[in-house]
Amino acid sequence: MLILGVESSCDETSVAIVRDGKEVLANVVLSQIDIHTKFGGVVPEVASRNHVYQVSLVFKEAFTRAAIKPEEIDAVAVTYAPGLIGSLLVGLTAAKTFALMYNKPIIPIHHLAGHIYANAIEHEMKFPAIALVVSGGNTELVYMKDNYDFAIIGETYDDAVGESYDKVARVLGLGYPGGPVVDKMAQSGKITYKLPKPYVDNFNFSFSGLKSAVINLAHNEEQRGNAIRKEDLAASFQDVVTEILVNKTFKACAAYNVKNIIVAGGVSANKGLKERFNKENDGSYTINIPSIKYCTDNAAMIAVAGYYRQQKKKDFADLSLNAYANLELE
Ligand code: KG4
Repeated sequence: MLILGVESSCDETSVAIVRDGKEVLANVVLSQIDIHTKFGGVVPEVASRNHVYQVSLVFKEAFTRAAIKPEEIDAVAVTYAPGLIGSLLVGLTAAKTFALMYNKPIIPIHHLAGHIYANAIEHEMKFPAIALVVSGGNTELVYMKDNYDFAIIGETYDDAVGESYDKVARVLGLGYPGGPVVDKMAQSGKITYKLPKPYVDNFNFSFSGLKSAVINLAHNEEQRGNAIRKEDLAASFQDVVTEILVNKTFKACAAYNVKNIIVAGGVSANKGLKERFNKENDGSYTINIPSIKYCTDNAAMIAVAGYYRQQKKKDFADLSLNAYANLELE
């Protein structure tokens, strides 16, 4: 089955062509990061406009790289939620136009399902599993009893973990997106700053207190005329974040009697998180983390999710499919 994937939920315009949920023939990702960096974050209106400028070119490039004709595609998988509404609508409209022109069925994909199924490109996903979904907009623990079966068992009460990384980076003057920079700095820092570890019930999370503690600490040191040791602060922050994420994931595995862990979303690119999962694994868990190119937003993961959604649901959307800024994992 040849699936065309389309992703435009935030600031990446991406189109991919994937065979049988595994073989990535093309995965074109056109990032707008350079445009948004000067604003310190994604400006929704600017993102939508750039998707409009780019989307046709990205479609064309994907077909060129895959050496596939549009007629050969079996179905179009497209991100329809959640995300920036203007951005989502551009990708969705492009996908629907393609489907109409070539008479192809449409598979509606929730963005977080895409992140989870990014793991199926390089690993065999086994069930039951616990998925830790950590991105710029979401932090969730998901129990997957079976393929394409999602039960959210925990989520953040306030900031998403990627959002906290980005805000901490902004205060430290490290630019946008902050996650990769803070992660890199943390590698050369020492855990010297004492930061609060938020206690949160069950499998839920809260990162706003930790984020505020870092921001207050930075401001206080500045007012006192003390230089902040940025590497050490990054290492101290990352240590608390990864401890929470890893502990809660293992706790969820114990509660649901699961031995398969799936890590997904932009923050799954974090080196400290990977190291901590490996360190805490007593050897009885299978822990899947995508390689960096599939951690952040891309359309290959949407095409792959489309393939597995079809195996489970066997239904398609029609041209009335709409986009939603907020929607729970279906
Ligand atoms: O999944 P994603 O590409 O977009 C969303 O759907 O949100 O995630 C983007 C987020 C940003 O907040 C970015 O700072 C964070 O992922 N991120 C990281 C790392 N790489 C990206 N956070 C921590 N460490 C990283 N290495």
